[in-house]
Amino acid sequence: MSINSKRRDFLKVGASGLGVFMLSGGMTKALADACGLTPAQTSGPFYPGEDKFHQENDLTQIAGKAQATGQIIYLSGRILNANCKPVPGVHVEIWQACATGKYNNPNDPNPAAIDPNFKYWGETTTSHDGTYRFKSIIPGAYPADTDWMRPPHIHFKVSALGYHELITQMYFKGNQYNDADLILKDVPANERESVIVDFVPTPFAQEPNALSGVFDITIQSVR
Ligand SMILES: [Fe+2]
Repeated sequence: MSINSKRRDFLKVGASGLGVFMLSGGMTKALADACGLTPAQTSGPFYPGEDKFHQENDLTQIAGKAQATGQIIYLSGRILNANCKPVPGVHVEIWQACATGKYNNPNDPNPAAIDPNFKYWGETTTSHDGTYRFKSIIPGAYPADTDWMRPPHIHFKVSALGYHELITQMYFKGNQYNDADLILKDVPANERESVIVDFVPTPFAQEPNALSGVFDITIQSVR
């Protein structure tokens, strides 16, 4: 299998042994505490109202444009229920800032530059084994106030019939702004690690410096 075809397989929901290989390293710890519900966090003011791309899980490439600026990441995980069973057919949306820390949203007062090659928002549906996949970039940190920098993070909205909708945020392990972030600190201390992901080098990626990370999410049944 060529590198390009491996990359395509990664982004296809439901792909195969390659996905299993990729998930095997980072998933061990995540699965160990996967059945505790993923903590909810604020959606923030920058949920996109316009310019959504239908069922698009690659945020790094817009047809006819250059690749988005920033560190490429392959982000995947499984949506689980409280009994640790994967949930297929779950709608997963993400939105985030570009590499400069700017959102494509008129509510964002940050003077940083927009990246015209970045999609800022994506969506996908989990496969039979509850897996979702996105390709994106590490967002920049941005000022939330004069004395508060938000660490790089990706917003998630997870919805499925029969489950409470979950809105949360995912963070990058080791980032200098994590510990002082007022929103991350609002997550109970014993649940904080569940929303912080360790991104590691990715041997199968098209891009030599790409990183991959696994963020498993547990959602709550309405019953
Ligand atoms: Fe944000």
